Amino acid sequence: MLTIEQIKEAESLSAAEAIRLVTEWFPQGVVFSSSLGQEDQVLTDMIYKNGLPVKIFTIDTGRLFNETYELLDRTNARYKNNMQVYFPESADVESFVQEKGINAFYESVENRKECCFLRKVKPLNRALAGAKVWITGLRAEQSDNRQDMPLIEWDEQRQLYKFNPLINWTYEQMMTYIAEHNVPYNALHDKGFISIGCAPCTRAIEAGEHPRAGRWWWESSQKECGLHGEHKK
Ligand code: ADX
Ligand code: SF4
Repeated sequence: MLTIEQIKEAESLSAAEAIRLVTEWFPQGVVFSSSLGQEDQVLTDMIYKNGLPVKIFTIDTGRLFNETYELLDRTNARYKNNMQVYFPESADVESFVQEKGINAFYESVENRKECCFLRKVKPLNRALAGAKVWITGLRAEQSDNRQDMPLIEWDEQRQLYKFNPLINWTYEQMMTYIAEHNVPYNALHDKGFISIGCAPCTRAIEAGEHPRAGRWWWESSQKECGLHGEHKK
């Protein structure tokens, strides 16, 4: 287990330095889940540019925007590295669609959570198998649920450390990094999209709206898919 001193040391460093330190603590054991969002692109840039030993993967739910797929290609070309892509189990998707319908997530929160579970949470669990540290692009500013998340915490359910190197970054800091380092980003960000998930479940937001208002916008429930919020099963 990490000591309080180790966690304090990580907290005193820049994001890139903290990632390097954590890879020294857990050689071969660090993985990073990227949704190809702006936060994740910053982390990908830091990891690839510094040659850090971190497995980078993304989950293709099968319902992503084409702009997101284009960004995946551009990112792989830019860093000359192919991130690993995980897919849902075909049998899970086939039976869900057969029983409930192709766009059943609009019909109830229960259906939506089931779809997120099959298409995101299960592949995530597969991708995390054997990992000791899971890096995410979470930022405290993003939602109430994320406000109290620490830099590094033990995830009892998954039995690994969850490490959020950008947890205290502001939106402005992130945008400055992207501009200064010429980091590739999703073309949808220039069309009013901020937080981007699956195409049928994400819309652009208006000025003044909450950054996550475009995610599952028809729901008034907590806007989390189970990756970081409550787990369905
Ligand atoms: S979500 O829970 O609402 O879907 P969000 O889009 O804010 O998550 O992204 C937060 C973090 O979750 C990302 O920085 C990334 O680590 C992880 N994540 C979300 N979606 C994916 C995905 N499709 N593939 C890999 N990681 C993801
Ligand atoms: Fe399914 Fe929408 Fe969740 Fe994507 S965001 S997994 S399409 S419910």
